[in-house]
Amino acid sequence: MRRVLLIIPLAAAALAVGACGSEGIEVPEDNPDFRGAELFAERCSGCHTLSAAGAQGSANRSQRAQGPNFDQRKETYEDAIYAIANGGFSGAIMPQNIVGGGDADAVARFLAQYSGKDVRDPDDSAEPIIPRPEREP
Ligand code: HEC
Repeated sequence: MRRVLLIIPLAAAALAVGACGSEGIEVPEDNPDFRGAELFAERCSGCHTLSAAGAQGSANRSQRAQGPNFDQRKETYEDAIYAIANGGFSGAIMPQNIVGGGDADAVARFLAQYSGKDVRDPDDSAEPIIPRPEREP
């Protein structure tokens, strides 16, 4: 009987970890950006690569749905918020509002902080893949 009681919480913990997809997250758990990294791993990793979140979603760019690799591309907070709200910059493939409110804020802050790690000169990545529409600052 005692053994059964022990197994249940362990199984629940394993499930919780699996559901978050938090394996491979490089952000320490006590870092303010950890929540954003977790959300990125959960919601964005299917289509985007970002090693800080353990995400490999850009691995096969021949598939249309796969988005930019954020190790090779620096994103600003503002652009991340814009892309989340509008479904990328084309609005064609990436779903809109996968995360909203405080979650969108957390993902955008995480992305601004951790994207572009393979970019030598951050200005090199300033050119968007898809031209960005004019918008209020
Ligand atoms: C179904 C696949 C898919 C998912 C899920 C997805 N994206 Fe995207 N995303 C794309 C594609 C494809 C593009 C490139 C085309 C475009 O910008 O419309 C893109 C573009 C972007 C861009 C703009 C990149 C640039 O510099 O041009 C950002 C920022 C972005 N995504 C962030 C996110 C975040 C954050 C999440 C999770 C909340 C997410 N994406 C989830 C497919 C996806």
